[in-house]
Amino acid sequence: MRINFLTLFPEMFDALVGHSIAKRAEDAGLITFMTYNIRDYTLDKHKRVDDYPFGGGAGMVMAPQPIFDCFKAVESAGKTVNVYMSPKGRRLDHETVLAFSGYDTINILCGHYEGVDQRVIDELIDEEISIGDYVLTGGELPAMVFADAVMRHLPGVLGNDESAADESFSENLLEYPHYTRPAEFRGLTVPEVLLSGNHQQIEAWRKAQALETTRKKRPDMLKTNFKNE
Ligand SMILES: C[S@@+](CC[C@H](N)C(=O)[O-])C[C@H]1O[C@@H](n2cnc3c(N)ncnc32)[C@H](O)[C@@H]1O
Repeated sequence: MRINFLTLFPEMFDALVGHSIAKRAEDAGLITFMTYNIRDYTLDKHKRVDDYPFGGGAGMVMAPQPIFDCFKAVESAGKTVNVYMSPKGRRLDHETVLAFSGYDTINILCGHYEGVDQRVIDELIDEEISIGDYVLTGGELPAMVFADAVMRHLPGVLGNDESAADESFSENLLEYPHYTRPAEFRGLTVPEVLLSGNHQQIEAWRKAQALETTRKKRPDMLKTNFKNE
């Protein structure tokens, strides 16, 4: 997969691509991250990329010309989708993440200021994605959240011991609790069954715990399970 970020702040993406699982996946050739600086494509002699909103009002709007030209320069291959990170978009969830993991190229436009000129969205964008019902300063953090969540579902990105398959949301359940050594810490012990070596019992305990955790913290998810039966 290739993920292209179209942004005014490419250096922010070092936080994602230079570390941990994202870096390992890129080094292994499983994913390519590219940033495109929208400012490099402005034809304005002062390098401006934004302007005042028609009709008045607060803030500035990202102008269409640099974004259209930036999209033209982006390298895409295979099944491609253009996404704009926006609080007005479809709210990101597990199903949406899985659906996007099937693309070969995802081009992600990051807004700033009041957002982008509507003609960009109407002409170039296939889907607007929101990471939640609140407003952030820019689309860079949302783009990294989105890219990180999608990347985890690509084959080989997570090691065998980090499978995404039984994590929270995978079967409409939250995950069971985890424990590691020592078996006793400050008088607090680990559930006996986890030390038993009996894999069937451990499996059953984890299933029951996942159900209980979901019932306590997200009963709405269980309602969805029953609705789907
Ligand atoms: C200050 S926001 C613009 C908000 C816009 N004026 C509105 O009221 O809907 C600037 C940029 O941050 C990004 N952004 C802010 N909140 C977001 C969210 N919840 N999800 C995704 N992107 C968001 C978008 O790219 C947006 O263009």
